[in-house]
Amino acid sequence: MLTTTKKLLMAAQAGGYAVGAFNVENMEMVQAVMEAAEELKAPVIMQTTPGTVRYAGLDYFYANVRAAAERASVPIVLHLDHGSSFELAMQAFRAGYTSIMIDGSRKSFEENVILSKAVADACHPAGIPVEAELGKVGGKEDDLSGGDDDPYTDPAHAEEFVKATGVDSLAVGIGTAHGIYKVKPVLDVERVSKIRELVSVPLVLHGTSGVPNEAVRECVKRGMCKVNYATDLRIAFSKGVKEVLKADPDIFDPKKYGAAGREEVKKYVMSKILVCGSNGKAAQGI
Ligand code: 13P
Repeated sequence: MLTTTKKLLMAAQAGGYAVGAFNVENMEMVQAVMEAAEELKAPVIMQTTPGTVRYAGLDYFYANVRAAAERASVPIVLHLDHGSSFELAMQAFRAGYTSIMIDGSRKSFEENVILSKAVADACHPAGIPVEAELGKVGGKEDDLSGGDDDPYTDPAHAEEFVKATGVDSLAVGIGTAHGIYKVKPVLDVERVSKIRELVSVPLVLHGTSGVPNEAVRECVKRGMCKVNYATDLRIAFSKGVKEVLKADPDIFDPKKYGAAGREEVKKYVMSKILVCGSNGKAAQGI
């Protein structure tokens, strides 16, 4: 069955590990994430951005992830990543998503509070947790560009924001960026600790593709409880497909190259579950 992020992230926070959150864009990627989680006995989050939702629809992703969750013995969450409006958040909620992100990080602090609180107030009566973002993750995610503003989250603002909105988890800016890094990212890990001291809810790391595993582990140690990977899953899937088609350009059965893409994504996801330290945690009854 699908579960919510609430229990998973609280358990991660208490246990000092993070739950991997993987962006899925087709059925094969859903299968790959589920198989990886199942093999490592890890709780896992599958998520879709507004762009992915536009590609196939909330109902298609809900059906795919629900089918995966029904076959799995590990807890699986379906999460809306970077929800871009109150309306889309409500559509995902009604479609059966079990966790919702509302991203008001490009708005003013006050407008971000109003929007995030409205989504939290609407989702909480049904037990659906809400992630919000304060500060900016750089790079480009879907249609949203991080821009040139200061990307770092002010710890005092984070404390005020969580109190004012009642959100269940918070994505914070510490120097990561979505997409492919052109220069090596320099993370302000001290900032994670400072925010963690002031904010009681689980923290979320965005833009993790391309971040060295050691840096991710350090962030998890300091309080990141959900770690998002998207770009590298796309690269892994495409690598598998390209290799098959390069070896035999006459292949026309999508199952043949789809399976190769799926295998690459599975390998990648397994490696990142180990980085998050969530392997074996499903067996602990969460
Ligand atoms: P990457 O594409 O950099 O892995 O970012 C993923 C993410 O944060 C999705 O919200």
